[in-house]
Amino acid sequence: MIKIAIIGFGTVGQGFAELLVRKRDEIEKAIGEFKVTAIADSKSSISGEFSLSDALKMKRETGRLRDDVSAMEIVRNAEYDVLVEASVTKIGGGDAVEYIREALKRGKHVITSNKGPIVADFDGLMKLAEKNGVKLMYEATVGGAMPVIKLAKKYLALCEIESVKGIFNGTCNYILSRMEEEKLPYEQILKEAQELGYAEADPTYDVEGIDAALKLVIIANTIGVRARYEDVEVTGITQITPEAFQVAAEKGYTIRLIAEVSREKLKVSPRLVPLHHPLSIRGTMNAAMFKTDTAGNIFVAGRGAGKEETASAMLSDFYEIYAGSP
Ligand code: HSE
Repeated sequence: MIKIAIIGFGTVGQGFAELLVRKRDEIEKAIGEFKVTAIADSKSSISGEFSLSDALKMKRETGRLRDDVSAMEIVRNAEYDVLVEASVTKIGGGDAVEYIREALKRGKHVITSNKGPIVADFDGLMKLAEKNGVKLMYEATVGGAMPVIKLAKKYLALCEIESVKGIFNGTCNYILSRMEEEKLPYEQILKEAQELGYAEADPTYDVEGIDAALKLVIIANTIGVRARYEDVEVTGITQITPEAFQVAAEKGYTIRLIAEVSREKLKVSPRLVPLHHPLSIRGTMNAAMFKTDTAGNIFVAGRGAGKEETASAMLSDFYEIYAGSP
């Protein structure tokens, strides 16, 4: 029986739990029986005897779980084999770095959707996982449902990945593609995106390129380019005008927020993209182009955010830990 503890029970944590409930039969057929033994959010928790469906219902109806045991105590003392860490990203990592370290030191696998800790201490956490003979999986930190991490680490394992160029922020891509279509100013489209729930009330993190830069750091380290957040040259999308789109279109281009890593470059900035290039993708989609020595160019695209999409990436990590190669 695989025992799972979930830390962070907001959108992503609940999304993962809902997938466990909905896909129990398929999951158990693929990797064996499992049980969620503990869940903690920032204010409450539940462990011991409980049903996952009831815990989800309780959280939805009351905004909290049954007990007051802290997340750190759950990480330190609860009985589990894999920690699913789905706290909200904080630059610098926040408490989640300690949750992950503690679980790894206890010899537990970790699956995280949280960019903060992976960016803050990529090497340290990976070495700790290796030392303790467990896996630290982080597919959900980049590109939501779009497979990027396992693509690089597993399917392109013996290729040299010369560069990765991609769109890793759905909010920016939505705003830019709407500006392109509607020929309207940035502020107006941002307001529309906020009303539709695509952009946060405080959009800084997305529109200034910070979120894309964090994801780029994770990709860089994954492909063997040692990088910290401070190393990324970042320009956001706030200065882009409808006129810029017009000039670009006259020459057969559009504008997208492109994150690029190679041995020479670590950069997030608005760039010209040919109108029919795969990276001219529209809406909230994410996309990535891997340039390799032996496999040529590999292109992937998919939904870069969303409750179920992010949870699906975590579920693929769960499968990878327990079922190994297909
Ligand atoms: N806010 C991000 C985006 C999703 O707009 O793509 C979470 O990483």
